[in-house]
Amino acid sequence: MEETYVMVKPDGVQRGLVGEIISRIERRGFKIVALRMNFIDEDTAKEHYAEHKEKPFFDSLIAYVTSGPSVSMIVQGKNAISIMRTINGATNPVDASPGTIRGDFAIETGRNIVHASDSQEAARREISIHFGEKESVDYRKIDEVCLY
Ligand code: PPS
Repeated sequence: MEETYVMVKPDGVQRGLVGEIISRIERRGFKIVALRMNFIDEDTAKEHYAEHKEKPFFDSLIAYVTSGPSVSMIVQGKNAISIMRTINGATNPVDASPGTIRGDFAIETGRNIVHASDSQEAARREISIHFGEKESVDYRKIDEVCLY
């Protein structure tokens, strides 16, 4: 089953949107198999966003994601990587459709509330940066339980 890494960034936490975001993920049918709130330290943030280290926005991006606690999740389900990107909406909220998280709650890229891995390789890499091997849990959701 496909897994992706999802982060509610510090502005999402500060605005009290954690429940709203988790609810959207769960209502879509995905299963959260790991969940943690913590301060992401500077080294971890730089590792996570390493591919952007030459970009002009890199320093402000690192300052932003380390500015307060964030919520990290491993989200599991069929097509989880691409569907989570759709749930989040376009990176720049100016382009994000209403009904997406960014389209409903964000107005600028520098405060765009959520992150989700953009490929299978990125998902594997980001999950291993933010979670240890034994941090995800194995359980069955009610719709996976055979009642008859
Ligand atoms: S690029 O240049 O197209 O590869 O970059 P992009 O995919 O648009 O963005 C990469 C991540 O950097 C974040 N970003 C920013 N953060 C803060 N300030 C500014 N100006 C900024 N521009 C881009 C963007 O949200 C992406 O992070 P994630 O966490 O994947 O959304």
